[in-house]
Amino acid sequence: MKPRKGIILAGGSGTRLYPITLGLSKQLLPVYDKPMIFYPISTLMLAGIREIAVITTPHDQAQFQSVLKDGSQWGVSFEWIVQDQPEGLAQAYILARDFLAGAPSALILGDNIFFGHGLTELLKQASASARNTIFGYQVRNPECYGVAGFAPDGSVSSIVEKPKSPASNLAITGLYFLDESAPDLADQVEPSARGELEITTLLEMYLKMGQLAVEKLGRGFAWLDTGTHASLLDAGNFVRTLEDRQGLQTGCLEEIAFHQGWIDAAHLRDRARLFAKNDYGLYLQRVLLDAATNEFNLDTKAEIDARARRLAV
Ligand code: G1P
Repeated sequence: MKPRKGIILAGGSGTRLYPITLGLSKQLLPVYDKPMIFYPISTLMLAGIREIAVITTPHDQAQFQSVLKDGSQWGVSFEWIVQDQPEGLAQAYILARDFLAGAPSALILGDNIFFGHGLTELLKQASASARNTIFGYQVRNPECYGVAGFAPDGSVSSIVEKPKSPASNLAITGLYFLDESAPDLADQVEPSARGELEITTLLEMYLKMGQLAVEKLGRGFAWLDTGTHASLLDAGNFVRTLEDRQGLQTGCLEEIAFHQGWIDAAHLRDRARLFAKNDYGLYLQRVLLDAATNEFNLDTKAEIDARARRLAV
């Protein structure tokens, strides 16, 4: 199997978020302290994927490039692909055919945010496996998503796009680990009634061939939506609550790259300096300090201070 490549679909006009998306792509909007697209990038990086194509509208591409650069700051590389019209998710595979060059892929939607204990393991497994893997997540409003239907033996028997009467409340998330045949199969997808090449049609093809595994993300995971003004704010509040409580960042690309061994300490220090004026930069400094403390088995500053106090009495 060739190394798996990543695709981030960040096209679309974001009309549901007007007026905030009138002049700025949805996937560049802030989710608390980072642009939205950082979170799906982090998901791919946690899966071990370093070659990533970013699909945008023609007019948004320059803005994405000014935010994401060439990716070397995070030890990854970005290739840029334009989607002229938002003609459906399955089109991503057709547009990315040359980029993929016969490699298996992980496609993630630029507005999908995943969080949860054990997520990294799950991603690594899916990425390393030759199986086609997608993820199901229980939601209150399945009619807004692709929805899994089940056969009597409990296996997934259908995946229907935004059904009026959903067969279950298991939504299919916007993260798809598919094999190298995805571009060829996507070529065979006929446009739906709304004129789009639906990802669910492509997934049903794999399902019919008996080549699709649907992994359920349990209640301990968060799969967040950013489709409406309210859910965008909720996602931001979720990230803020977590980061504030734990003192740990979610979606911190420098931290992930450093822990993956894709950037070294000197590079991380430069990034920390770049953001020296805010919490993000301080956080990167802490990541560096923790790494040095562990590597050289050093006492932390707090431990040294405590010992100094004990000696003083
Ligand atoms: C798309 C897919 C849908 C999937 C969802 C996940 O919906 O068509 O199958 O469940 O992403 O975010 P859309 O974003 O077009 O509403």
